[in-house]
Amino acid sequence: MEEKYDFGLVGLGVMGRNFILNVADKGYSAFGHDLDAEKVQALQDEGGHHAKVNATTSIKTFVKALKQPRKIMLLVPAGKIVDAVIESLLPHIDRGDIIIDGGNSFFTDTDRREEYLQERAVNFFGAGVSGGAKGARFGPSIMPGGSKSAYAHIKPIFEAVAAKYNGEPCVAYLGPRSSGNYVKMVHNGIEYGLMQLTSEIYDILKKAGSYSNEELKSTFSKWNEGRLQSFLVEITSEIFDKKDDLTDGSLVDQILDKAKQKGTGKWTSQNAMDLGIPVPSIDVAVSMRELSALKAERTEADKLYDRPTIDEIDKEYIEKIAEEALYFSFIVTYAQGLHQLAEASKEYNYKLDIATIAKIWRAGCIIRAGILADITEAFQANETLPNLLISPTFVEKISGTVDSARKLVVLGAQNGIPLPGLSNSLIYFDAYTSTRLPLNLIQAQRDYFGSHTYERVDKEGIFHTEWG
Ligand code: 6PG
Repeated sequence: MEEKYDFGLVGLGVMGRNFILNVADKGYSAFGHDLDAEKVQALQDEGGHHAKVNATTSIKTFVKALKQPRKIMLLVPAGKIVDAVIESLLPHIDRGDIIIDGGNSFFTDTDRREEYLQERAVNFFGAGVSGGAKGARFGPSIMPGGSKSAYAHIKPIFEAVAAKYNGEPCVAYLGPRSSGNYVKMVHNGIEYGLMQLTSEIYDILKKAGSYSNEELKSTFSKWNEGRLQSFLVEITSEIFDKKDDLTDGSLVDQILDKAKQKGTGKWTSQNAMDLGIPVPSIDVAVSMRELSALKAERTEADKLYDRPTIDEIDKEYIEKIAEEALYFSFIVTYAQGLHQLAEASKEYNYKLDIATIAKIWRAGCIIRAGILADITEAFQANETLPNLLISPTFVEKISGTVDSARKLVVLGAQNGIPLPGLSNSLIYFDAYTSTRLPLNLIQAQRDYFGSHTYERVDKEGIFHTEWG
């Protein structure tokens, strides 16, 4: 009898090809499918040395080649293509088979697909995969959600291919239905926040500290050796080192300052609004990508106003406060994303364990960072911790750095350098840690013009006043 394959993968773009080669490297046989014959050929060429890798353009041959229950992962662009692939698989697969969507699908699409497939007794997983092409090849962080019993079939393969942190795989069963896609969505929201923050630090070091790209490279590289150690700080340092092929300068200076986005950050913000959870560091990261896209308008508006003359700041001083401000605002951004996850868990009944999520983000994914080890410990110590900002270890870390965030934000404001991520992180912190906010006035205004009523500080009940 012909030997069947352990794992199937649909979509042999770079991510899919790399993921399948990773699976094969770990000793599992893997079969790929793509309608594009060139992609099938590319996998066969690259995986030729592996007796365990094969691929076909025929969906029927693909499905027939897999061991039951079949484990079929889709690494195709989010949206209608996922539905189309599911439809193409359905006539060939059997009850009990497992389909895993490894893309950045919107979580409600995953819920819809899961219900649809449940009627056909097919298990469906939404599994966020983070780490880019390199991660897929050598160890991503994987965030699966779906049926717990079906997870047992994919667990060994996922644990083998996932990145390892101190030997522990960066994958875990996260919860039912769309929980995996939801967690990946918030991962990306945090990713947007951290990227915005690093870009602001770059801006102020360059404009107010007159840092050259060489100095930026060595500063970020030094920071990556300390408490800011993270994938994003590491690649930032490497970016400043990259020479341009077409000019004499650095590549980063030739890149147009218009950031694109595929939607996951925006979804995080939108859903946080629906949940009533503030994530301003993430919101503003989305807004800044939108603002960056208005390049022509920005260029015209720039001509209409004088900008403050930037005072040259002592390098040693600005470097110190920038490091502390970045560390502070990284913490605040993780705090917001994790707060959103805790609320989503209640709202959608995901039963998420935040410590587990922090744990599987410690390696492999784009937001991996040394600080995630501390975050994991904070949530292990108190699994119902409502917000990272009130964890005793983080109170200490924040208390030691918040002053620098204040100084840097003031410096930015005085010099006309926009630092929205840093400012919003500081504002969030100041507001979250304020017993009293001026929103009593808003309640009074609402009651004044619309009889919307208010509560009192000194007794229970709902009140209304005739103000005029
Ligand atoms: C990851 C990344 C990945 C993708 C981003 C890019 O975790 O590996 O998040 O999923 O690179 O979604 O998103 P934008 O194109 O929206 O910046």
